Amino acid sequence: MKAFIKIFRFFPPETAHHLALLSLKILNKVKLLKLFLPTIKDFDNPKEYFNLKFRNTLGVAAGLDKNGDYVDELELLGFGFIELGTVTPKPQEGNQKPRVFRYLNQQAVVNRLGFNNKGVEHLVSKIKNKKYDAVIGVNIGANKESTNDQRIDDYAYCFEKVYKYCDYVTVNISSPNTPKLRKLHNPDELEKIFKRINEIKSTNQIDIPIFLKISPDESEETILKITNIYETLEINGLIVSNTSIEKDILEGCSHEGGISGRPLFKKSNQLLKRIHESDKDIFLIGVGGVFTKEDYRNKLKLGASLVQIYTGFILEGPAIIKNILLK
Ligand SMILES: Cc1cc2nc3c(=O)[nH]c(=O)nc-3n(C[C@H](O)[C@H](O)[C@H](O)COP(=O)(O)O)c2cc1C
Repeated sequence: MKAFIKIFRFFPPETAHHLALLSLKILNKVKLLKLFLPTIKDFDNPKEYFNLKFRNTLGVAAGLDKNGDYVDELELLGFGFIELGTVTPKPQEGNQKPRVFRYLNQQAVVNRLGFNNKGVEHLVSKIKNKKYDAVIGVNIGANKESTNDQRIDDYAYCFEKVYKYCDYVTVNISSPNTPKLRKLHNPDELEKIFKRINEIKSTNQIDIPIFLKISPDESEETILKITNIYETLEINGLIVSNTSIEKDILEGCSHEGGISGRPLFKKSNQLLKRIHESDKDIFLIGVGGVFTKEDYRNKLKLGASLVQIYTGFILEGPAIIKNILLK
């Protein structure tokens, strides 16, 4: 498996990403994937939150499987939970290529994909008739061309489409690659989004947890406002954090976009710590720069109940799951 990962590095990052996921799919189809993997039972460390049974507390972060095309494979690898998306109401191409850049010497990636995805209907068609052992979340966003309150409609639309087929939903307001999306950190906008979502929840009498994924680049003041309205808006948890556009954290950064991986570790941890210290009742999912068991434990120590990975997984391959979860 390690040799594969090295070969993929000869390809441009986005091609490598698709090839890697496709290889997993083919290996799974010909029933060989299991041969490469430790028994998933070895990863068992069950935890229950919001009446959901997480077989372990390591999940795959949003963006890796935007369309729900690889859920079976990701589940087999042993993740306790899988966050699909970001999906938008309509399919969209995203930004012009190239739009993903590796900085291997710093274990980092810069991406400016811009919510490329096949649309929410496609994702629903992938998951609607299946049952998974892993907890499945769907991360929802707004189409690039939607403006002002149309964005609020986009979140409501996606929520209505997905809630029946997943275990939790994440409202993503923190991608740096959709113009002005991060303005939705403003409490007035959040109020509008969650009012709509809560209306749908009460009309349909559903009780599914809703998480909010936030940016690591917001001011103290904004974060404080969010933690203050967290309960009133009936948000069930914060995902901390999305990528950062603060170029200083990545030496020699020459690309525009969101920085992920090792350089994000400290920054996302600082935010996690700050939120946890300000309100211990806020349910936290830590993400950003996890490569080792120690990194993972660090996030838990800082107040996270669950941890997600993305860049570590694509740079190190599936062995990272075992390295993090096995004692
Ligand atoms: C190529 C790429 C695409 C991403 N796409 C999304 C996305 O669609 N939605 C989202 O909420 N986060 C997305 N993210 C952010 C990750 O989910 C995660 O929050 C971030 O990368 C920090 O974790 P990491 O350091 O383990 O990668 C993406 C990250 C990368 C590197």
